[in-house]
Amino acid sequence: MKVIDVENVYLKYPSAKEDTIRGISFDVRPGEIFGFLGPSGAGKSTMQKILTGTLRDYRGSVRIFGTEMKHRTSDYYENIGVDFEFPNFYGKFTAMENLKYFASLYSGKTMDPVTLLERVGLHLDAGKKVSSYSKGMKMRLGFVRALLHDPKLLFLDEPTSGLDPANARILKDMILEQKRMGKTIILTTHNMHDAKELCDRVAFIVDGVIKTVDSPHALCKSGADTKVEYSYLCNGRETKSICNLSGLADSQDFQYALKEGTLTSIHSKEQTLEDLFIALTGRRLQ
Ligand SMILES: Nc1ncnc2c1ncn2[C@@H]1O[C@H](COP(=O)(O)OP(=O)(O)OP(=O)(O)O)[C@@H](O)[C@H]1O
Ligand SMILES: [Mg+2]
Repeated sequence: MKVIDVENVYLKYPSAKEDTIRGISFDVRPGEIFGFLGPSGAGKSTMQKILTGTLRDYRGSVRIFGTEMKHRTSDYYENIGVDFEFPNFYGKFTAMENLKYFASLYSGKTMDPVTLLERVGLHLDAGKKVSSYSKGMKMRLGFVRALLHDPKLLFLDEPTSGLDPANARILKDMILEQKRMGKTIILTTHNMHDAKELCDRVAFIVDGVIKTVDSPHALCKSGADTKVEYSYLCNGRETKSICNLSGLADSQDFQYALKEGTLTSIHSKEQTLEDLFIALTGRRLQ
């Protein structure tokens, strides 16, 4: 079964000369965290806007819960939660008033806003007007707004961007908690560490095209061999050397140092997602 089934999708913004999304296909299974990893301008947010039913002027097929997005009804929004790249709130309302207002738009039961605000460390600022919030505070508020109605499908556009490490950690833990609850999650990011930690599968996206899709683990294992960097004492001086993991047994320097007990350090260096991204696309992530 597929929650999302995208086939050969193209999208051109009215003001643009060329297509921004150029023939994208992928599917997402229930309970999966599926990531879009790509540099600025790759088309991540555009793809998310197609999936959330905001941009409907696409060519190709985008089926979510079996419904073509061109024909979605407002019921769709009862089942999805969207954390926007630039969350919009009513600036003259407090955070609590905003959450209560957005909760009132859903027909089903919603979560307690106090609990949600506590989870992301905003409870002491719940009574402050959102116009006085910092970017990071708005990001955290935007994240919990997406969870208000306990949706089964979540779209998170760069949820940790601009957050300090402690708050990013809280959000990442909450994302993994949503997964454990059985939610399906689409995450866009240009942070390879987030993609590696959170995603079951990640799509490399650049210039509106998906270059590859696989699990972060499989991607890191593919292509280049893992390197081993070691150092050892030679005539009283520390000497560094590097070789492929698969060639370690054949490295005479390494074997000699191992036997003589003169090894001083050894590190394996797996290919990172960014290394592979550069190898496949010729582009950096940041
Ligand atoms: N409303 C629009 N009209 C015309 N072009 C647009 C519009 N919105 C985005 N674009 C263009 O489409 C391309 C993809 O933009 P998009 O926002 O999807 O990238 P992104 O991968 O989300 O980048 P970022 O990491 O910076 O958020 C960019 O070249 C952008 O300038
Ligand atoms: Mg974006």
